[in-house]
Amino acid sequence: MALRLQAPANAGPEGKDRTCRPVRVGPDSGGTPPIGVFDSGLGGLTAARELAAMLPGEDILYFGDTGRVPYGSRGPEVIRRYARQDAAFLLGQGVKALVCACGTVSSVAGEELARRAGCPFIEVVGPAALAAQKATRTGRVGVIATAATIHSGKFPAALRALDPGIRVLDRACPLFVPLVEGGHIAADDPIAVPAVEYYLREFREWGADTLILGCTHYPLLAPLIQRYLGEGVTLVSSGREAARATGERLGQLGLLSGREAGGRSRYFVTDDAGSFSAVAEVFLETPVTDVTPVEIARLEQLEL
Ligand code: DGL
Repeated sequence: MALRLQAPANAGPEGKDRTCRPVRVGPDSGGTPPIGVFDSGLGGLTAARELAAMLPGEDILYFGDTGRVPYGSRGPEVIRRYARQDAAFLLGQGVKALVCACGTVSSVAGEELARRAGCPFIEVVGPAALAAQKATRTGRVGVIATAATIHSGKFPAALRALDPGIRVLDRACPLFVPLVEGGHIAADDPIAVPAVEYYLREFREWGADTLILGCTHYPLLAPLIQRYLGEGVTLVSSGREAARATGERLGQLGLLSGREAGGRSRYFVTDDAGSFSAVAEVFLETPVTDVTPVEIARLEQLEL
């Protein structure tokens, strides 16, 4: 897949990445550290899947905080604390870059994490807004995301910074995350189909030609959403755009492994590994076996 070239999504205040922390290199990593990807649960797999497809020679460590999901209905202080712990966990595993594959964390804690990470940090808001600005023909862009993300106002601000003429309609869809975590992702799911109609009717009436799926869980419902809105509406997956931005950023920094194949994905979750694997396998269309449980009590000791 061709990579678009764009400014780094999260350069530091001087536009430079801070020095990376020393990284641990695993015995089977081919000599290069993995890319860390994290989310409150399964949603970040939408970024991990694209990363694995775009950069098949990279190892990926995925962390899903399935024991504390959802984040999007919580207040900013709790989200920031969880976000720092999640990032600290992956940094402790020796990743070379952090991909915050969570719209909620990106919106509420993205700036803080970018400052503290000490390695390339990629979030989802900037890359998704840029993709939507490029895609829209009518200038009517819809945004759906969690309550915390909508409340932050980060997506409309990013879109208007790119083009002040863009009109934005945004709304929270709080039932979508539990539906995805519960595996209700089939195109004919009897609970998900009416939920999609309930949340998206106003976008259809308003005439959005582009819809940002601003929560990384939502692309797992993309077939239902596309069917309801019609093929004329462009869906922007924030996870996919973050993955593209990651490839570009690591390429610019010379941090790619240089391998063309053989990358491995490993997963860490804070709730039952079997339930995670079951839904992840449906979405990723590949066996998900290397899943390690992480105790929440251990995470709570961590700080960035
Ligand atoms: N997938 C996440 C997001 O993008 C989190 C959803 C949640 O935990 O509420 O917002």
